[in-house]
Amino acid sequence: MSNLLVTGGAGFIGANFIHYWMSTYRQDKVVVLDALTYAGNKANLEPVAENANFYFCQGNICDTHLVETLLKEHRIDTLVHFAAESHVDRSISGPDAFIETNIIGTHSLLKAAKKVWLDDGVNKDNHRFHHVSTDEVYGTLGPEDPAFSETTPYAPNSPYSASKAASDHLVRAYHHTYGLKVTTSNCSNNYGPYHFPEKLIPLVITNILQDKPLPVYGDGQQIRDWLYVEDHARGIDLVIKKGHLGECYNIGGINEWANLDIVKLICELMNSEFAENPELTNKYPKAVSAIAGKAQSLVTFVKDRAGHDRRYAIDPQKSNSELDYQPQESFASGIRKTLQWYLENDSWWQAVMDGSYRQWIDQQYSTAEQAGDR
Ligand code: NAD
Ligand code: TYD
Repeated sequence: MSNLLVTGGAGFIGANFIHYWMSTYRQDKVVVLDALTYAGNKANLEPVAENANFYFCQGNICDTHLVETLLKEHRIDTLVHFAAESHVDRSISGPDAFIETNIIGTHSLLKAAKKVWLDDGVNKDNHRFHHVSTDEVYGTLGPEDPAFSETTPYAPNSPYSASKAASDHLVRAYHHTYGLKVTTSNCSNNYGPYHFPEKLIPLVITNILQDKPLPVYGDGQQIRDWLYVEDHARGIDLVIKKGHLGECYNIGGINEWANLDIVKLICELMNSEFAENPELTNKYPKAVSAIAGKAQSLVTFVKDRAGHDRRYAIDPQKSNSELDYQPQESFASGIRKTLQWYLENDSWWQAVMDGSYRQWIDQQYSTAEQAGDR
């Protein structure tokens, strides 16, 4: 039996991880620490909210004292750290929050964990700090380059990836210097339910349903490796259970796609959904292009992201051989499940889009339109 502290548990991956964990390890206690920024949403945790082993604390990971209190009061033995500013575009327009949460916040957690677990000796021999990071720390690949392995040198290119790289180094240093029991996972792009609709896949799905343009940055030939979010949760579970202390594990989907191809695929799937299910036309009357079988007509090429990384790819060898990790969901089934989830959960994404996110994205669009970019 474990007592987990999950930071950022009200966000996309954190919430999916908690759903996975609480249905897999029913005896474990799960405490969430989340600041509920624009990306955090308590509705993401509704499926577990009534569980007697579930606790929610609204608070900031930069509050070291609060973290120490949670670690002691709940006798936490496992901290799984998801909390972050996570959107590359926001890191370009406003990097400060990324430095604050991703670097200072991670250091605050490490300090609290060292104090409680090592200095005060609570769970001294039996603790784990698992840090959730990204493949973006490795920078960008050319078309023929080998995929990122755990020994690929760090070369982050955006304020987001640079802040995550800094946090990875701090985690490593707390193991090497103080003996904190840490592991890190560096994962590729996730997709699935509860994905905030500023990221590519949920943005495309929700924009089709509202007949809005589907913005494709630059030539749309940038490549990402996509992993269904529950497979990420399974990977983290394996790293926590079987990973070696102080080590990093790359987790990927072995599933590289060019952005434009993903957008076209979602358009095709959506056209088929509307053709096969006439009731969707009543539910989503605004989706006129998809209703006419022409969602692709919404594709709009826009100005490229500054410093846009061209390609990410994960070499899965280490997690495969040491952890016996393999993604279970195929992309064909995962993307269909995801699309179905958004079609059925319009109240979730409508509520998300009515919030502060909507103001931000509208501002981005009007600025770009003024500049004649979009
Ligand atoms: P998200 O933006 O959906 O969620 C982040 C969560 O952290 C939100 O609930 C937010 O309220 C919370 N948070 C932000 N700042 C906080 C603070 N100072 N204190 C407490 N809580 C705070 O992010 P996500 O997509 O779920 O990503 C989770 C983690 O996984 C991040 O560390 C990210 O770098 C990493 N990751 C994401 C992806 C991906 O494809 N989304 C891929 C690899 C790694
Ligand atoms: P995103 O979902 O923001 O994830 P990340 O930047 O962490 O990879 O973007 C995925 C890819 O899609 C990335 O190459 C940028 C591109 N993209 C678009 O072309 N249009 C969009 O509107 C968005 C949000 C992203």
